[in-house]
Amino acid sequence: MTEKVALDWGNLGYGYTRTDYNYISYWKSGKWDDGRLTAENTVTISIGSTALHYGQECFEGLKAQTARDGKIYLFRPDQNAKRMSASAKGILMPDVPEDRFIDACLQLVRANLRWVPPYGTGASFYLRPFEFGHGDNLGAKPADEYIFCVYGSPVGPYFKGGMKPISICVADVDRAAPRGTGHLKIGGNYAGGLMTRMLAKQAGFDDNLFLDPQTRTLIDELGGANFFGVTKDGTVVTPDSPSILPSITRRSVIEIARDVLGLKVEERPVPIAEIADFVEAGACGTASIIAPIGSIFYNGKRYEFSGGKETGPITRRLYDVLTAMQRGDHPAPDGWLVEV
Ligand code: PLP
Ligand code: COI
Repeated sequence: MTEKVALDWGNLGYGYTRTDYNYISYWKSGKWDDGRLTAENTVTISIGSTALHYGQECFEGLKAQTARDGKIYLFRPDQNAKRMSASAKGILMPDVPEDRFIDACLQLVRANLRWVPPYGTGASFYLRPFEFGHGDNLGAKPADEYIFCVYGSPVGPYFKGGMKPISICVADVDRAAPRGTGHLKIGGNYAGGLMTRMLAKQAGFDDNLFLDPQTRTLIDELGGANFFGVTKDGTVVTPDSPSILPSITRRSVIEIARDVLGLKVEERPVPIAEIADFVEAGACGTASIIAPIGSIFYNGKRYEFSGGKETGPITRRLYDVLTAMQRGDHPAPDGWLVEV
């Protein structure tokens, strides 16, 4: 057994704690090098790097969890590999092959075992793979060289208070453009949301809910998580939209709702007007896990779910099954858990 670092595992927030090793690989002249672990957590790049000027950067987020028997599992890393490949291609970067992506994640966790939170603490080891263009450049064009890195950090819940329902407000700006890059996990999509998130926080909300940028009549997603609602008859409803990030947690929630809980699931455009009909609502994502939404502020009115302060029964069951699968306490579909 690895001796763990002395951290207050049960009270971690979502933030960066430097660990022992990071992974780095360079792409040059048409190919990736072998990649390696490094104790350094800095990179030196040209001031002309496209990542710095034109946002040629994409990233991923996935978690490793410790099971009851001490084994450590990555949750659906193949899905993150595929999504990062799509993001990279979408901004003209070479993609990292899936086996290489997963191998880098495995190497990173194995090198940082003492930072992986123990079973039962509620915390997890968050991995952040990312890729960006670098090298001497001036014009708005793709770089000639690329770097793929993975770093990690032990983390607690993204929203303070864990399962405490969050309150969100509908943003009056858009996160993505119609026919834009909202479906890719690229840095530029997040820079544009920083101001509205800060304003939402200053007004006492935990996050924003974004509407579809084309008509502003449909629910898109939160700044860092997808949305779902639950109707009176127990149907789980989640937006189908070209401008949201296709969340791996959301895909897992849909399968759990249907196949484990036997619920009806609708993935379709969801008019914002429908929030008045939802009895429960939630945000889902790797960092957020499943965060119950207690209230949504929209058009000068506050809409409450499950009394505003409680976690609804379906949201709770989805959370319980998802997190039990992630730590190996509940059987998961083939391929969802990859042992480290
Ligand atoms: N939507 C946005 C904008 C995100 O940043 C994230 C986080 O990755 C998600 C949704 C959730 O996606 P996933 O469940 O794959 O982490
Ligand atoms: C994740 O959930 O992994 C994300 O990347 C969201 C980010 C806003 C922390």
